[in-house]
Amino acid sequence: MKKNKIEFLDLGQQPLANYYLNKSQIKKKERKYRLIVCFDKQNKLVSIKKTFPSEMMFNNKYPYRSSMSQTMQKSFKKLSQQIKKEINPKKILEIGSNDGSFLKNFSKKISIGIEPCSNVERITKKQKFNTIPKYWNIKLAKSILKNHGSIDLIYSANTISHIKNLNDVFKSINLVLSKKGVLIKNTYDQFYNEHIYVFSYLSLKNILKKYDLEIYKIDNLDIHGGSNRYFIKRISNKIRINNSVLKQQKKEIKYGLDKKNTYFEFKKRVENSKKRLVSIFNYCNSKNKRIIGYGATAKSTTILNYCKIDNATIDYFLDTTKDKQNKYTPGTKIPIYKYESIDNKNIDFIFLGAWNFKDEIFKKEKKFVKEGGRFITHTPYPKII
Ligand code: TMP
Repeated sequence: MKKNKIEFLDLGQQPLANYYLNKSQIKKKERKYRLIVCFDKQNKLVSIKKTFPSEMMFNNKYPYRSSMSQTMQKSFKKLSQQIKKEINPKKILEIGSNDGSFLKNFSKKISIGIEPCSNVERITKKQKFNTIPKYWNIKLAKSILKNHGSIDLIYSANTISHIKNLNDVFKSINLVLSKKGVLIKNTYDQFYNEHIYVFSYLSLKNILKKYDLEIYKIDNLDIHGGSNRYFIKRISNKIRINNSVLKQQKKEIKYGLDKKNTYFEFKKRVENSKKRLVSIFNYCNSKNKRIIGYGATAKSTTILNYCKIDNATIDYFLDTTKDKQNKYTPGTKIPIYKYESIDNKNIDFIFLGAWNFKDEIFKKEKKFVKEGGRFITHTPYPKII
């Protein structure tokens, strides 16, 4: 299996993407690793080379909260309505339930959440949801089956990409999924240490086959800058395969997602993107403009470290997540403050760390733009907006 893996992108030395530093830590040497991205010729799967023990990343200090954006909340609500109408499950399980943004759309009686980050899991437990602070694996799946019976709907919002042992993940799903049960998996993958896998349709199809599972419908979503929602069933379940599956297959083959050269082309685009972003920041610096960051995201950790942009360029970040506030960005040590109105702060440019919520942010910050402020983004290509 290993010989099939081709390394195509080196994103340099990186810290753990969600490891925000407190004041005493910024003077110490940070642990870094080389972020290399690979393509597996055999199953067409993109993955990162070096992985870390889950406990290092998903523990009782996990800062990410899925409830921090209106866009996500709305998307979960819409999906839950669709699930109630089309699947009408008697029992639901979410792998990686975070702070309950998805689960809260369902009755507490029928839902179970799995969330190993106990600081986040505590939030739903307090609201009387049946959430379990454990990692998703075969042992847990067996105990769920014993205590709750089989599950009609399993949902995972990008969580499966965070688990190294895919064999264990899908075997566990197979064990608890009812005969006519459905697995819904969202993927919105960016490169950092937590996201071990990037699932295209072609790669996921290859993996699922081994577990007698198949994709029967795909929704292409705008969320997180474009993502796929895969609806998965047992091969033996006769639900009709929706046209969206063939459409996606054609699209991915057209884009060459099954060919290694496509990934080397992507590498070139990444390198050019870095040059362009650095030149935008250099231009702003040369004019003595004040730049702040908006949304200290894990994905901006990759970008800032790869492009070597630190506190000399970005004054500070604003973020609504409590666990990130009064800390420093991993590797680049830019202070993060609580989000409050950006009026009268003499800000010239805002770097969009949370570019995936651009529309929501633009709506909120109309006044900044009206008064001449500008945003800097690196995606889909670096530009000043
Ligand atoms: P994510 O892209 O990994 O979901 O993280 C989004 C981050 O951006 C999260 O820390 C919250 C922050 N954020 C703001 O500070 N203000 C906003 O208006 C939005 C939408 C997000």
